[in-house]
Amino acid sequence: MPILNEKIAERITRGMKVAVLTGAGISSESGIPTFRGDEGLWKTYRPEELANPQAFAAHPHRVWEWYQYRRGIVRQAEPNSGHLALKDLEDLLEDFSLITQNVDSLHIRAGSRNILELHGNIEKNYCSRCRKRYDKLFDQKIIECPECSCGGYIRPDIVWFGEMLPAGVFERAMQAAESADLFLSIGTSAVVYPAAMIPFRAMEKGAAVIEVNPQVTELSSYCELSLRGGSGEILPQLVSEITTYLN
Ligand code: OAD
Repeated sequence: MPILNEKIAERITRGMKVAVLTGAGISSESGIPTFRGDEGLWKTYRPEELANPQAFAAHPHRVWEWYQYRRGIVRQAEPNSGHLALKDLEDLLEDFSLITQNVDSLHIRAGSRNILELHGNIEKNYCSRCRKRYDKLFDQKIIECPECSCGGYIRPDIVWFGEMLPAGVFERAMQAAESADLFLSIGTSAVVYPAAMIPFRAMEKGAAVIEVNPQVTELSSYCELSLRGGSGEILPQLVSEITTYLN
């Protein structure tokens, strides 16, 4: 049974512009818990207590230790068939942008190239006082928040609640969405702004939007196609079908 309908099939050419937004769901099959839902990370650890600048100012060691714990999970994880299918899709096309809310580097490790990391990267760090960068990997055994030579605490380069997205990245993501012929929204609950605006902008500008998610989301009823299931299973099928239309 084909996944794609005729309307989408008509758009498929090597020159079509494709933009993809991914969220925590795509990495769940690599063993990294999502943020929301029954197995969500936020169920055990309250994000409002940890992922914000005020919490870091008050309890730098606690926040650092939580990120060290999360780094441990990410370091053990491997890209799954969903990440790899997106790398294969990029290889087929001339214009492809991968916008991710994930901070786990699994798209990079899968070989994707044109990636926009909206929420930062868990392995990167900078000084909360002087902004000096610390992009080396910190050994997981370091559970005390390290200090910069200026005396400030080093923090993960992650966008926390109440903070701005990295300069220019959101704008580039919006441009990719606005010019897309096909837009894929994968494994995101589509509730965290401003990332959640991106698929809607693509839709407004005429892209066919396909969602891949086992659950209904805020976006589902607006999409051209809302595919229910895990991305590790659906994305390889989707990319294989796109390949058939290209040949
Ligand atoms: P959420 O945890 O909000 O949503 C994960 C989504 O993945 C849910 O809609 C699940 O139904 C879906 N899902 C679960 N398993 C899946 C699978 N195998 N295949 C496909 N989808 C699956 O995660 P995000 O939408 O990424 O921000 O959350 C957005 C932001 O909220 C995160 O980037 C994080 C958090 O605050 C920051 O850390 C700044």
